[in-house]
Amino acid sequence: MSPQDVLTELTALQAGDVPTHGGATMAYVYDSGRVDIEELAAAAQAAFQWTNALDPTAFPSVARIENDLVGAALALLGGGPTAVGSLTSGGTESCLLAVLAARERWRANGGAGRPRLLLPVTAHAAFRKAAHLFDLEVVDVPVDPVTCRADVAAVGDRLDERTALVVVSAPSYPHGVLDPVGEVAALAAAAGVPCHVDACIGGWILPFLDDVPEPFDLSVPGVTSLSVDLHKYGYAPKGVSVLLAATPELRQAHWFSTAGWPGYPVVNPTLAGTRPAGAMAAAWAVHRLLGTDGYRELAGQAHEATLALVRGIADIPGIRVVGQPVATLVAVAEDGADGVDVLNLADEMTARGWLLQPQPPFAQPGGDLPATLHLTVTGATAGRVPALLADLTAAARAAAALPRPVADPELVAAAATIDPATLTVAEVDALLEVAGVGGGRLPERMAPVHALVAALPRPVAERLLSGVLDLVYRPAVEPTRP
Ligand SMILES: Cc1ncc(COP(=O)(O)O)c(C=O)c1O
Repeated sequence: MSPQDVLTELTALQAGDVPTHGGATMAYVYDSGRVDIEELAAAAQAAFQWTNALDPTAFPSVARIENDLVGAALALLGGGPTAVGSLTSGGTESCLLAVLAARERWRANGGAGRPRLLLPVTAHAAFRKAAHLFDLEVVDVPVDPVTCRADVAAVGDRLDERTALVVVSAPSYPHGVLDPVGEVAALAAAAGVPCHVDACIGGWILPFLDDVPEPFDLSVPGVTSLSVDLHKYGYAPKGVSVLLAATPELRQAHWFSTAGWPGYPVVNPTLAGTRPAGAMAAAWAVHRLLGTDGYRELAGQAHEATLALVRGIADIPGIRVVGQPVATLVAVAEDGADGVDVLNLADEMTARGWLLQPQPPFAQPGGDLPATLHLTVTGATAGRVPALLADLTAAARAAAALPRPVADPELVAAAATIDPATLTVAEVDALLEVAGVGGGRLPERMAPVHALVAALPRPVAERLLSGVLDLVYRPAVEPTRP
């Protein structure tokens, strides 16, 4: 095929994707709305696409890029004289490594048995993945059901000699609210436990805002590590995040080195071996282009838009904003006796060209959390707030007229008898057919599917979710063998 034909075919694949640009996709993507940023990022990425960040002695350029970006992050986020950091592939990897480092430190300090990870229930799921991979026991910490901030007393009750790490979010992904970082970090420090601030989504925006209610960064006593993603509000392309550590010893604790094989001596600071340098180079370039003033301007735009959105939602009957959003994330819940079901609202917004991310209701001690819709506001949404509010108003009216999505009680009762561990892939496929997502094709209206997922026993729901992915990822069949 000619390069032109290949590219035509490749870009045609994107026809079914949600838009990455224009501000209507309010999760997954961070659109600055600025062509100059994107052109520079693409050029930087292209210049480094064949470079291997595996070995900074062979490619000193990547060491320079990493040191510059980590230095910038430390300057922005309160790193002290001993603080260091690493570039990783994204928020999940930064969170994984923070947990790995804490586990290694806990073991080195004589910790015995299975270490514990204290997680406010709103902490990102990446920490549950870390606990799964590195064999820690998750200890759930409830959040205040009204403010959705981590409950400090509940953290205190759960700290013990098996606790390897406490996590707080700045802000949390589900509700965009700031955990009481100072209070939690102080309790953790008093118990000799490290405290990680997950600022993956907020760390490159909060420092540029004037009205952040309380300090949240590495300068807060007791905070030992912090994650911040450049591929979110750093407006870099996907694949780059920063993990900061208060001391080089803590950073060393997530490194791996071996001379125990006949090949080249290996030392990996992160999970990967070969590391792509393209996104790192693009992040470096965007950072140079924007500087503090450029980021402040973009953060201000997105924040103003968020405030306007919050004010506008207050005037829409049947819905409300949850908690006090501190950055540029908003969670919308049903409000009042004539409340609007937010799962139906999500479908109505999808029909109007917007992607608002449904988040299921969540049961926890002290008060359940309602179902919400998540909205990530970026520079590109800023100019579209009036249109967004107009569509939200119309969508709320339309959603109010729809029947509430309820899970089929017979299906839920039958699911309760299933042991998900024993299900074969074919049986999962058959169950998904009954649930309305046969063949991995999602229906136009997702509200009933979300309602079902929320009603199922969690292990069954988790097995079915994997089943959907199993259907989506089926190898495409080549017409002939080469
Ligand atoms: C607070 C927080 N932590 C971690 C992550 C995981 O980041 P990633 O999707 O880059 O792996 C996210 C993603 O939105 C996040 O918001």
